[in-house]
Amino acid sequence: MIIAIDGPAASGKGTLAKRLAAHYGLRHLDTGVIYRAVAHALLQAGADLKDEATAVKAARTLDPETFGNPDLKTHEVGTAASIVSAIPAVRAALVEFQREFAAKPPGAVLDGRDIGTVICPAAEVKIFVVADPQVRAHRRTLEARLRGEAADEAAILADILARDERDQNRAVAPLKPAKDAYLLDNSNLDIEGGVRAAIDIVEAVRAGRQRA
Ligand code: DC
Repeated sequence: MIIAIDGPAASGKGTLAKRLAAHYGLRHLDTGVIYRAVAHALLQAGADLKDEATAVKAARTLDPETFGNPDLKTHEVGTAASIVSAIPAVRAALVEFQREFAAKPPGAVLDGRDIGTVICPAAEVKIFVVADPQVRAHRRTLEARLRGEAADEAAILADILARDERDQNRAVAPLKPAKDAYLLDNSNLDIEGGVRAAIDIVEAVRAGRQRA
């Protein structure tokens, strides 16, 4: 089974995807990490985030061993990833890696922006996670403070709104729900409530399939 979880920045889709993968015994790939790794490589090299040739080279030489680097989680790298990910050639260079990951048995949960629309359009279940921008900014601020980073909630909200705008309006693979995606608004749900709602969706889709 392949489950596609898409949604905007800080929507909680990452935690949800991880929990779903554990629940169903599937592998999990946070695809944002891939774009973050490319952005991080450019920042480290002092390269321009819009330098296509350097960005594509970084995408082609990605080392999955680096995906656990905590520096990738920072807000700064996330914003840089949003810029780098708008380059079509960078996205193209990363498609195969994601599809190969999804295709390996026993299946996988992938979370990102374009999993249900571009990377795995045939995924059995597609969930599009949303939450109010204020709620997302608040959650991100708490996370950043827990990591010991200074975090200004108003600045994070402005950044989230700018990131939504860029992710939704880029020419290639913009952030949008697939036509057959289920919408999950977790603004008023805690993590457990979100996980339960997602499992309910997966079970309803499976039950519907069996009847068909
Ligand atoms: O989910 P995240 O915050 O880790 O993602 C960081 C950026 O990477 C996001 O703003 C846009 C980009 N991204 C993407 O374009 N496609 C994906 N599948 C995942 C992330």
